[in-house]
Amino acid sequence: MSNSVLNVLAGGSVVQPPVWMMRQAGRYLPEYRELRAKAGSFLDLCFNPEMATEVTLQPIRRFGFDAAILFSDILVIPHALGQTVTFAVGEGPQLTPLADEAAIDRLPLEVDQTILAPVYETVRRVKASLDPAVALLGFCGAPWTVATYMIAGHGTPDQAPARLFAYRHPKAFEKLIERLIVNSIEYLRRQLEAGADAVQLFDTWAGVLPPEEFSRWCVQPAARIVEGVRKQVPDARIIGFPRGAGASLVDYVDRVPVNGVSVDWMADRRLIREHVQSKVAVQGNLDPLALLAGGDALDRSVDRILGDFSSGPFIFNLGHGILPETPIAHVERMLKRVRG
Ligand code: CP3
Repeated sequence: MSNSVLNVLAGGSVVQPPVWMMRQAGRYLPEYRELRAKAGSFLDLCFNPEMATEVTLQPIRRFGFDAAILFSDILVIPHALGQTVTFAVGEGPQLTPLADEAAIDRLPLEVDQTILAPVYETVRRVKASLDPAVALLGFCGAPWTVATYMIAGHGTPDQAPARLFAYRHPKAFEKLIERLIVNSIEYLRRQLEAGADAVQLFDTWAGVLPPEEFSRWCVQPAARIVEGVRKQVPDARIIGFPRGAGASLVDYVDRVPVNGVSVDWMADRRLIREHVQSKVAVQGNLDPLALLAGGDALDRSVDRILGDFSSGPFIFNLGHGILPETPIAHVERMLKRVRG
């Protein structure tokens, strides 16, 4: 049986779009919460290949999604660069903020690969136990999004600390982005070598930047990463996710040679169909709150998305990660509707 996600990323059309969900392994699942409670810290879970493999496979077993996404986090890269990263329950990530250029200069040029070795081992294990019809996706955070956490030391509503830092110290910020580009290329290359079928580049906070900064800190680094990975893995399949890019998504796909883009729920679907899906595969874009609400609102949202996107290369997904309070019955309802 062929792999429908890979067919779509190759530009092919399929009768029924493949489906998976961002953050599909996570707290809305009782089996995740149970294992999470035994794991110790969140990073302990990310770096435990046996447990991370199990968590990656949980949503595949329960729902039969068409893709599995490696269980890890985008912040393992700052951690492997020596920055202190912790996840306090209910508070999100906490990092020792990078205060100035000297702090950036103190970061090593290359991550300690022994720290990341368990992640590659998880990829190998998942690949070995996954039905070949199910795609295995690796991922990393895009440099801009990772840098927002490294500079602020925590999540912020508008990424003001990183935006301010980039305006005040463009040379130092460039150094940080450069370091993240080089290490992301190597990180993704090793995930592909370990057995990932495709990788996704998460630029969760791309939407807060003015167009020139979006070009400089999101588009150019993404293009460098895609080209850098393909230099070593020529047929690497890569999905970009510049969340909140709006109409700039057209510019992104013109300049970043991705095979597909993940599209958030705010996007203008007609613009995307005409100017993005005509060039690359589209993935998305159900509002996670429509999934949380369920019922008619969910059905109508699913139908509109299928109506607008399923005539071209399309992977059904959410516009961002599933919310922890989402009922499992709503996920089942969504899948039934997508699969007809
Ligand atoms: O999608 C998946 O199922 C794979 C695993 C995955 C996680 N994080 C697990 C996780 C992926 C792909 C990510 C990516 C990630 N991590 C992003 C980019 C995508 C996005 O969702 O915006 C970002 C910005 C992060 C950073 C991060 N990690 C934050 C802000 C948080 C706290 C917020 C939250 O949801 O709790 C995390 C923690 C995290 N990463 C959890 C999970 C399942 C929850 C922590 C826990 O279970 O204890």
